[in-house]
Amino acid sequence: MSHSAQNLHFVAQPSSRAVGDIIVPGDKSVSHRSIMFGALAQGTTHISGFLPGQDCLATMNAFKTMGIEIEGPDSHNNVTVHGKGLYGLTAPKETLNVGNSGTSIRLLSGILAGQKFSSTMLGDSSLNKRPMRRVVDPLKQMNANIQASDAGTPPIVCEGLADNQTLKAIDYHLPMASAQVKSCILLAGMYAKGITKVTEPGITRDHTERMLQAFGYPITVEKNIDDCVEKTRISIEGGHPLTACDIQVPGDISSATFFMVAGLIAKEGELIIRNVGMNPTRIGAINILQQMQGNLTIINERMAGGEPVADIVVKSSALQGIDIKAQDVPLAIDEFPAIFIAAACATGITRLREAEELRVKESDRIQAMADGLTTLGINCTVYDDGIDIIGGQLTSGTVNSFDDHRIAMSFAISALRAQGEVIILDCDNVATSFPSFVSLANQVGLSIIAKA
Ligand code: S3P
Repeated sequence: MSHSAQNLHFVAQPSSRAVGDIIVPGDKSVSHRSIMFGALAQGTTHISGFLPGQDCLATMNAFKTMGIEIEGPDSHNNVTVHGKGLYGLTAPKETLNVGNSGTSIRLLSGILAGQKFSSTMLGDSSLNKRPMRRVVDPLKQMNANIQASDAGTPPIVCEGLADNQTLKAIDYHLPMASAQVKSCILLAGMYAKGITKVTEPGITRDHTERMLQAFGYPITVEKNIDDCVEKTRISIEGGHPLTACDIQVPGDISSATFFMVAGLIAKEGELIIRNVGMNPTRIGAINILQQMQGNLTIINERMAGGEPVADIVVKSSALQGIDIKAQDVPLAIDEFPAIFIAAACATGITRLREAEELRVKESDRIQAMADGLTTLGINCTVYDDGIDIIGGQLTSGTVNSFDDHRIAMSFAISALRAQGEVIILDCDNVATSFPSFVSLANQVGLSIIAKA
């Protein structure tokens, strides 16, 4: 992908304030799914608030390569998808390169598994190291002719189904809490004979289920309490049509979290973050930051396009270290790098466990954050499934982002409370999820320069 060519680094200076009234860009998970369902629906889908980040553009390009006409995003982030129905995709003439995007490769695997044509997907150097057996194995159980490399990583090669072959429904218990794996199986389930069932071990984001319903596809969602843990089982029968609809993408709570943390840790912090998606499966960061005594107030709660949204008022706060509750982990899974910066600025120890999934994100986020925090003078102890962070004074120094957008943005925010300059290496991938991050951060009083 072209975005890796610039070799940007950020130079972030300490600053005393994070003040302003901002809107964060559209939700990444919802934007991906709006393109996928729009492409597979009958009719024209209009999307507003689409995230023009590299990851979502990679999904868009993959569908264009498979014959779907898509207009936009225009300057207002509107996108129009001319859907061709469940069986309207055409064979891609080239390998589908989805860059840095785990959501693209894992969800597309479920769709491609149900096609009659062959396809190959791969990504950038970070994605090409990430685990794919978690999707390939259940898809094989569904009779898909799909394979990852011997190491279980991309490329994912999918041989088309023979004319007399169809996917078969399975009853699958997810071995880990993963919305990407759940979504992959549900998407394949649309092409399978029979009723596919997916049970998740904990709550994960439910945008796929919501969007299936918005596009008129029948699913059943059952919630049971098992061993004191709420388990959700989703059932989907193959062969129903998707009907085009209009999608309003809410602001991304994952992007908003950088500004929540900035407003909380700044000496002078008063931010209003507007139109943030408040889906109950995504609000772990708010729960955790409030438990840390963060002054976050949720106002103007409303529904937009089938998802709850609200505005968040953030005020500078004396944060306290906490033991993070296991049930909040999947609900805050992408927000931990930013939460770790809050922990570094808190009084006392913050402990996180049962978060081993963080080790297989765009980077090993436990180690990447521990390395950078240590460079900046913060004491932390790493565990297989988590970390202890002792709040203290951030100093200054050069930290590695490990090409991970969320690590880069977290350390950029940390400079608010550092004693000197924080330089963050390899920041190109910030464009995957939050292309306007630096300008929005500077608008509210941070001091970040992106240098080639
Ligand atoms: C996502 C699910 C999560 C998350 C990722 C987006 C999605 O991944 O980390 O950024 O859109 O379904 P996992 O399913 O691997 O937890």
